[in-house]
Amino acid sequence: QDEYLIDGSIKHWKGQKQDVYSPICLKDGKQVKLGTYPKLTQNEAHQALDSAMNAYNHGMGQWPQMKVEERIKAVEKFTFKMIEKREEVVNLLMWEIGKSLKDSQKEFDRTVDYIKDTIEALKNLDRKNSQLEIESGILAQVKRSPLGVTLCMGPFNYPLNETFTTLIPALIMGNAVIFKPPKFGVLLHRPLLEAFRDSFPKGIVNTLYGSGEELLTPLMKSGKIDVLAFIGSSKVASTMEHHHPKPNRLRSVLSLEAKNAAIVMPDANLEVAVNECVTGSLSYNGQRCTALKILFVHENIVGSFLEQFNAKVDAIKYGMPWDKDVQITPLPESNKTTYLKDLIDDATSKGAKIVNKDGGTIKNTFMFPAVLYPVNKDMKVYHEEQFGPVVPILTYKDIHEPMQYLMESNYGQQVSIFGNNSDEIAKMIDSFVNQVSRVNINAQCQRGPDIFPFTGRKDSAQSTLSVGDALRAFSIRSMVAIKNNSENKE
Ligand code: G3H
Repeated sequence: QDEYLIDGSIKHWKGQKQDVYSPICLKDGKQVKLGTYPKLTQNEAHQALDSAMNAYNHGMGQWPQMKVEERIKAVEKFTFKMIEKREEVVNLLMWEIGKSLKDSQKEFDRTVDYIKDTIEALKNLDRKNSQLEIESGILAQVKRSPLGVTLCMGPFNYPLNETFTTLIPALIMGNAVIFKPPKFGVLLHRPLLEAFRDSFPKGIVNTLYGSGEELLTPLMKSGKIDVLAFIGSSKVASTMEHHHPKPNRLRSVLSLEAKNAAIVMPDANLEVAVNECVTGSLSYNGQRCTALKILFVHENIVGSFLEQFNAKVDAIKYGMPWDKDVQITPLPESNKTTYLKDLIDDATSKGAKIVNKDGGTIKNTFMFPAVLYPVNKDMKVYHEEQFGPVVPILTYKDIHEPMQYLMESNYGQQVSIFGNNSDEIAKMIDSFVNQVSRVNINAQCQRGPDIFPFTGRKDSAQSTLSVGDALRAFSIRSMVAIKNNSENKE
């Protein structure tokens, strides 16, 4: 557990270590200790940087210049070794972040599929782009080339999948990578260190563990990071970007916060809208950047909507991640229940009520979902990304009210519209696509299928991640142009 990978070798850390506790409390109410990870220092951060820079810049025919087929082979080898570790990684994922066993397995399998689909996408991308083009007597061979040293970090809610949605495309396009796993969901990367070491050339993959501030600030300040791939909070992303002495030389691939809204129109199929809004706002405790984080329900139907919505929420099973059909599980962030309680108290002090049974009840690291109604602009929960099991609901009379919300919001990832009036919906789509990057009709917001472009506007994203788009995000089109001078002589 105290190992890290730099310059092609797995090193044993003798310095300070950080204890890792599971959010899961067993009978005595105490959180279970899962292990430790190394608290690396600036020295190791610089070693990782030197190692990645050497691997990227030196040696003809090495990783960045290797044939695409050879890089694909390396990624396939890694995937094969990764699959052998499925049970161990899934188990750690479940214990570290409290994600249900079923969803932890899904996360692992989705990641493997993502890698396989990325390989297929690259084969096609490369075929298209390596053709010779002849124009005005110039023969051009165009191809995709890597960008350089890439720093990758994923979030705690998808610590495997979302780390790999940047790491794998960055690697397969020929970049050298330094990656730091998130604070929650850190141990699950340990079983994969040997697979990284044995599948990729020395220095192409380097792992750092410890405080982001201590390790990553000097890396960014060095000005030698070419790509920042970060999935998490917009505040952290912009701090990191600002550390770079020449921000113009940095490519940022960012997937950040969101406050996705659902709009339930008066003619919506209520059963569909309720089902989609419940899972959309509460699966994995609402800890998804794509979760529905505010619901606008037309005033004509709000009574029936609330009745059906609350009945569904009250029937949600909470329990241990390994329990069958469990949806509400322990929250990994230690101060999360305090933050959520503060949001609820703020809303109730300004006129909202908790309208479902036991809403907001806290037990150890659990919080039972709180449905808040009626919410208004003066409440913090109207603006902040709660990223937890709290569902704010408002009524609207005129469609311009939710539209106004979208325009004023700092975020611009997705929106869901529930309704059946296609003319009305068509008008809404036209204006919403200028505020968000995905409009879902009669469906909750989500990232997948992973072949779809995943991005956002405003503070929600920069660049696009998906099976195909990520290959473009981590590469540049380069070319060799050869002039045919013999034509001129004739
Ligand atoms: O947290 C953000 C994730 O990208 C959400 O992905 O919609 O598949 O749960 P998901």
